[in-house]
Amino acid sequence: MLTCQRHLFDIPDDVAYLNCAYMSPLMKPALEAGTAGLARKAHPWEITPDKFFTGSDEFRATAARLIDCSPDDIAIVPSASYGIATAARNVLVKKGQSILVLAEQFPSNYYAWQRLAEETGASLKVAAWPENNDWTAAVLNSLSADVAVAALAHVQWTSGGRLDLVRIGEACRKIGAALVLDLTQSLGALPFSVSDVQPDFAVAASYKWLLGPYSVGLLYVAPKWHGGIPLEENWIQRADARDFASLILYTENYDNGARRFDMGERSNFALLPAAVRAMKQLLEWDVAQISATGGALNRQLASAAAETGFSAPAEPLRAPHYLALRRKEAIPKELPEMLAREKVFVSVRGSSIRVTPHVYNTTEDCDRLITCLRRIA
Ligand SMILES: Cc1ncc(COP(=O)(O)O)c(C=O)c1O
Repeated sequence: MLTCQRHLFDIPDDVAYLNCAYMSPLMKPALEAGTAGLARKAHPWEITPDKFFTGSDEFRATAARLIDCSPDDIAIVPSASYGIATAARNVLVKKGQSILVLAEQFPSNYYAWQRLAEETGASLKVAAWPENNDWTAAVLNSLSADVAVAALAHVQWTSGGRLDLVRIGEACRKIGAALVLDLTQSLGALPFSVSDVQPDFAVAASYKWLLGPYSVGLLYVAPKWHGGIPLEENWIQRADARDFASLILYTENYDNGARRFDMGERSNFALLPAAVRAMKQLLEWDVAQISATGGALNRQLASAAAETGFSAPAEPLRAPHYLALRRKEAIPKELPEMLAREKVFVSVRGSSIRVTPHVYNTTEDCDRLITCLRRIA
């Protein structure tokens, strides 16, 4: 387990920020890297053409270490929805087949599939909410021969339910279904390895558990899809883009690997250095340690909350870093605002209070939330 890392963040002592699943705070070194990157634009003559490539390659190399793949498999995207749309543009779905999603799946990993199903004559199949909290079994039971794509997550975002992606990946390969993952609520806080899971596409927005800035993310694209069609055509995805003087010698060829799926202006000089700095810190801490640290705080919270009538799925069916507290009575919608007045920050999603601590949280932060919950119980 890690010791508290609050000193790396600008979080006042009286703020109990237990809401990483909403948006993580940018750590001081990442803010410095991003600020320095933004300042570079004040002197554009120093932004030489090679800088359009070096920062992006560093992002790819760092992201690749985090998910255990080759840097060539990483595309730079602005959002989870962009990555999911890229996957939906490429996977093969025929009339009569189905696309599997989870109950209450996040909209960015739902609407693209709904549209693809409408356009192809396929149907959307929803893995029902498992009363026993076993999302893996719910998915495995839904993976019938008609499933062309399983569009899933590592953690179901309104319950904290954890999916065994290794088993699900195997089952998908057996029936020939493509596996597309939205890792936005897990990557950086729950160990994940591309070589173990073997997804076709996997995307993660940077601004939550990757502790990075808003509007950038990583998209893993399996080598078998490297010849696919990108969402947009831009100059820097193409072969020979390093030769700025010859860009109008149009080419059919793309740059190597997943680079063809990069968003336009992917070389963002402010966001990429901040995202890279944050991912390097995650690697230094080690994701398994981050998971254990958040997990210990959540276990303490779960047992104290149980005394006030709240419950949450138990591990390992629940991801350690992600606690969704439910009770029989409805949760007041205005609860987050009530707590915010006490400088305690959580979210309400679906019918749960979502509590998502990180390495900057203390046991005092958790105690303050429990004191508030006792008051509303
Ligand atoms: C599971 C999940 N995926 C994705 C996102 C963000 O989606 P996008 O990057 O498309 O805005 C969120 C934000 O809350 C999320 O919870």
